[in-house]
Amino acid sequence: MIFVTGASGDVGQKIIKILSNENKLFAAGVRYPDKYQGIPCENIKYFDYNNIQVMVKALVDVDTLIFISGNCDTTERILQHRNIIDAANIAGVSHIIYLSFVTVLALESRFSFTRQHIDTESYLLQSGISHTIARCNWYLDNLSSALINSLQTGIYIDAAKKGKISFITKDDVAAGLAKIALNPQWQQRSYLFSSDKSYSLQDIVNCISHKSGKVIIYRPITEQDYEVALSQSGMPNYLSNAIAANTFDIENDNYDINSNDLKNILGRDLNTIENYIENLCNSNLVY
Ligand SMILES: NC(=O)c1ccc[n+]([C@@H]2O[C@H](COP(=O)([O-])OP(=O)(O)OC[C@H]3O[C@@H](n4cnc5c(N)ncnc54)[C@H](OP(=O)(O)O)[C@@H]3O)[C@@H](O)[C@H]2O)c1
Repeated sequence: MIFVTGASGDVGQKIIKILSNENKLFAAGVRYPDKYQGIPCENIKYFDYNNIQVMVKALVDVDTLIFISGNCDTTERILQHRNIIDAANIAGVSHIIYLSFVTVLALESRFSFTRQHIDTESYLLQSGISHTIARCNWYLDNLSSALINSLQTGIYIDAAKKGKISFITKDDVAAGLAKIALNPQWQQRSYLFSSDKSYSLQDIVNCISHKSGKVIIYRPITEQDYEVALSQSGMPNYLSNAIAANTFDIENDNYDINSNDLKNILGRDLNTIENYIENLCNSNLVY
């Protein structure tokens, strides 16, 4: 049986949707089963990253675990991820597919979650459990609300200047993780989930200006001002701090790493920036 953690989240839901159309037993691990309102799934399991006993119980009879990281601060996430690996070991899970992050490859990184992903990869290695690692680049989807906002204000704000990112969409990431889980020939390797071209934020703003026909200005601000703006938008402090500090990683070209790994796994081209932005402009989210 395949088990998906973080199944109520964006990537988790996309994986559940794909697995629902396959003839393979799977389960969705969620923190609040009573509140689950996602894609209907026959096998919803209570799964809390802070509770090893609960996770061991949920993982009985699981052979392949798709492990999606949590969404709290770095120190807590390190402990949670060690818990998940310990629980998988106790329950006898045969294979773990871990959604890691591209900056683990960077010589220098100031993005706080890099430390967590390095710790989780190393703990996974020490656990002795067979595993696959998918090091994911920055989700293009992360920009959606700022892009939609820029269509209304005519301004896009961020702290990055010239740094380029090999953006990837959550749809493609989910499809890649599901394909690896369903096809053991893709397992026991490390992959880079990037696209084959990198873009600066100015490039992205040029693209949305072109697709929407509106004049949109890219306005880089200081890292400090960016952190304040993110906090004021309602982001928790640990996250606004991490995202602002991530500007260093962008400028240091830590995200400017291209790869065909995901394209090869999927056997098709990845979603393009142009299509993603065009769909965003045409979506009912905009007006
Ligand atoms: N590559 C990137 O650009 C990038 C950017 C942001 C994040 N990420 C990472 O990618 C992951 C997946 O992305 P996403 O968009 O799917 O994130 P998401 O929508 O925030 O989903 C995170 C999932 O983790 C679950 N979770 C959090 N804490 C948990 C706990 N203590 N016990 C059990 N489940 C818990 C959440 O459950 P609830 O629904 O109960 O909260 C949710 O299902 C994120 O969690 C984050 O680590 C990557």
